[in-house]
Amino acid sequence: MKQATKLIHAGNAVDAGATPSLTTPIYETSTFVFDSVADVIKYQEGTLNGYLYSRYENPTVVAVEQKLAAVDGAEVSLLFSSGMAAISTALLTLLKSGDEIICCSAIYGGTFHIIEDLLPRLGITRRFISIEALSNVGSSIGPKTKIVWFESPINPTLRCVDVRGVTAACRKAGVLSAMDNTFASAINQPVLSMGLDLSMQSCTKYLNGHSDVTGGVLSGSQALMAPIAKTRRLLGGVMDPQPAFALGRGMKTMPLRVAQHNANALEVAQFLERHRSIHRVYYPGLASHPDHGIAARQMSGFGGVVTIDVKGGQDAAFRAFDKLKVVKRAASLGGVESICSLPILTSQYGLTDEELVKAGVSKGMIRISIGLEDAGDLINDLDQALT
Ligand SMILES: Cc1ncc(COP(=O)(O)O)c(C=O)c1O
Repeated sequence: MKQATKLIHAGNAVDAGATPSLTTPIYETSTFVFDSVADVIKYQEGTLNGYLYSRYENPTVVAVEQKLAAVDGAEVSLLFSSGMAAISTALLTLLKSGDEIICCSAIYGGTFHIIEDLLPRLGITRRFISIEALSNVGSSIGPKTKIVWFESPINPTLRCVDVRGVTAACRKAGVLSAMDNTFASAINQPVLSMGLDLSMQSCTKYLNGHSDVTGGVLSGSQALMAPIAKTRRLLGGVMDPQPAFALGRGMKTMPLRVAQHNANALEVAQFLERHRSIHRVYYPGLASHPDHGIAARQMSGFGGVVTIDVKGGQDAAFRAFDKLKVVKRAASLGGVESICSLPILTSQYGLTDEELVKAGVSKGMIRISIGLEDAGDLINDLDQALT
């Protein structure tokens, strides 16, 4: 079946109980009832298909995990209360003292701080490498390397990494490849089919798509996910049934939403590229983007995030930011509403001038998550703010 069909029907059979419903109900319960001691024993031995406690498993959450697994093309998907809960649970499961993680230096700030500040306290070493070095990652992998972690497209410049190249090098060296696919989503970029071992997405963004849920998902093989499921029980970062229901509902329209995000973003990016107040537009769907070739090979759509560098630097960017009316000033991305943020005040906050240059980030940058409003209205709003 195609993605659109899977997103609507996968997982719905989890609740085929006494009152069969078309949609999966919200099992708003922390615990489940057993008929007898014999059933408890059967559950513990794995011969009774039931539920014990919602921190372990909950039918509403399991239903959405099955939808996610179908869309990601994974044997197993696991839901978490945030993207950060997913990332930390994965890394704390797959790494132990003495191991090394190789990570692209351009990654989400939260992930960076887990790897830079938290993992070394547990005796796990890290090596940050550039986007360029990632394309030849085999030469960075050493005897202690266990995981290579990367993103594509990368915030806020939307640089792209050759996913198949990185995963092939990891496989050859016998290390795990793990990737944060939040910006593209599995609809635009089905990374597990490109040889990736572990896919992570913040469900807070395109998967839910309505800016009203915080969540994260990890997807991979049964063998890889089984120990992660055990750690999730211990750390307790599982998603609650109520947000899981909202996420599952949002996912049913995901192919339509993502297609429109792609189309709106391309139209807006093309307009902005011609605007007299703009120094540069960063969007992987534009031929002018340095990684357009890589993006075109591995993405079926280029996503909804467009970054602009405004002529006149920080002052001009701040002025335009304050003048936007339809596009709201807010962090995050992937919702139906267009929102924008200033990288120097969010993802790159506190970096020195030298560090900003290294990250390819300028003080005149505005990152825009293009929503599902009429593209013409968005263009008019951006035009008046920039002019
Ligand atoms: C690329 C990326 N990865 C991970 C996260 C963390 O996800 P969450 O905020 O759901 O914990 C974010 C959040 O903005 C993100 O942009």
